[in-house]
Amino acid sequence: MAAISASTVWIRVELFKGASMLVTERTPVGDVVAKHPRAAGVFEKYQIDYCCRGDQPLGVACHAAGLPPSEVIGEILRTSLESSQDRDWTTATLSELAVHIVSTHHAFLRNELPALEARLRKVILAHGERHGDTLDPLSRAFLALKQELDTHLEKEELALFPVIERFERAHVAQEKRPPTPFGSIRNPIGMMEHEHRSAGDLLSRMRQATLDYTVPPDGCATYRALFEGLVRLEADLHRHIHLENNILFPRAIGLEAAFD
Ligand SMILES: [Fe+2]
Ligand SMILES: [Fe+2]
Repeated sequence: MAAISASTVWIRVELFKGASMLVTERTPVGDVVAKHPRAAGVFEKYQIDYCCRGDQPLGVACHAAGLPPSEVIGEILRTSLESSQDRDWTTATLSELAVHIVSTHHAFLRNELPALEARLRKVILAHGERHGDTLDPLSRAFLALKQELDTHLEKEELALFPVIERFERAHVAQEKRPPTPFGSIRNPIGMMEHEHRSAGDLLSRMRQATLDYTVPPDGCATYRALFEGLVRLEADLHRHIHLENNILFPRAIGLEAAFD
């Protein structure tokens, strides 16, 4: 990463202010990605968790990762300025955001998880004996993640998202808060956030077991394809959980409060 002087960062921040949100060391990393979606790529690169730990201030996250915050802020703003075509989900309707999540991220998981499981089984057959120390813990964490996500997606699609959409329709029509089978919307949201933390923990275990997805020298093409697929799964899941934890859920809680 090229060095960026403090004054350059200041100028970039000032230039950016009119168009969007000021980014400082105190800005929670989840809020940074909510306003600047391309920041997700920067955080992925430095392994800064912006979804399950979206409330940590940018400065704290940078120091923990051994990075100078001003350089990371500069990189985020550069990337964001280059990509102003990215959709700002903080201003879309909640229904649009829910449809986007289901049609992209849920669809991705339904497509990728079975394919990755098949690839994993193939790799275990060929390399399980020699690389059991890596593949056994990887397999346990992956299968637990897949099982959890299968039911998680259903809960969101069948229970939570339809209620968020009903709330939004009622709010627009200036009607009363529609009844729900689970009381406050905070209840299912709390459960989904808990499941997101569990998914984040399993992803970390997978990364640890594989030494950051390092393919061994005797690893075959399928081994490499498995690890590349798991890295893509991790990145997509981080973006997916971010959209829910940091944008959809807080806005849905705000919508419910607006009925009072
Ligand atoms: Fe989801
Ligand atoms: Fe979710």
